[in-house]
Amino acid sequence: EKIHSPYELLGGEHTISKLVDAFYTRVGQHPELAPIFPDDLTETARKQKQFLTQYLGGPSLYTEEHGHPMLRARHLPFEITPSRAKAWLTCMHEAMDEINLEGPERDELYHRLILTAQHMINSPEQTD
Ligand code: HEM
Repeated sequence: EKIHSPYELLGGEHTISKLVDAFYTRVGQHPELAPIFPDDLTETARKQKQFLTQYLGGPSLYTEEHGHPMLRARHLPFEITPSRAKAWLTCMHEAMDEINLEGPERDELYHRLILTAQHMINSPEQTD
């Protein structure tokens, strides 16, 4: 019996692609997130598709092209506050709803993303 990865169980390339596109449409419109992202999110989305593919146990597309993810280090140039992490997760949750991603694989992915997003926080809340 073949053991299926979360990547396959979620629907593979097609699902990841739809999810990431729906996600960055929201990020690009979010008042707290848009300012720290590039105006053109094409390349960001391409890298995120590669990353999530390997994060979910699919082919190591991100590492093949970019090397070890070192995600926290790659996020250090950006001020990631607790409220930005929350906004990121809200965009992801809404994107999952939009593409009708359901079931235990969705819940497991979202739970992992909560932990990863928390790990990316590198700045205290802005109070100004
Ligand atoms: C890149 C923000 C969480 C994965 C980026 C970039 C920003 C950003 C501004 C650079 C975009 C660019 O220049 O193309 C945030 C914020 C987060 C967050 C505010 C809130 C916690 C996450 C999480 C993951 C992730 C949870 C993984 C599940 C990535 C990847 C890249 C990236 C793979 C591309 C890195 C590269 O340049 O190779 N993020 N991020 N991010 N982020 Fe995040």
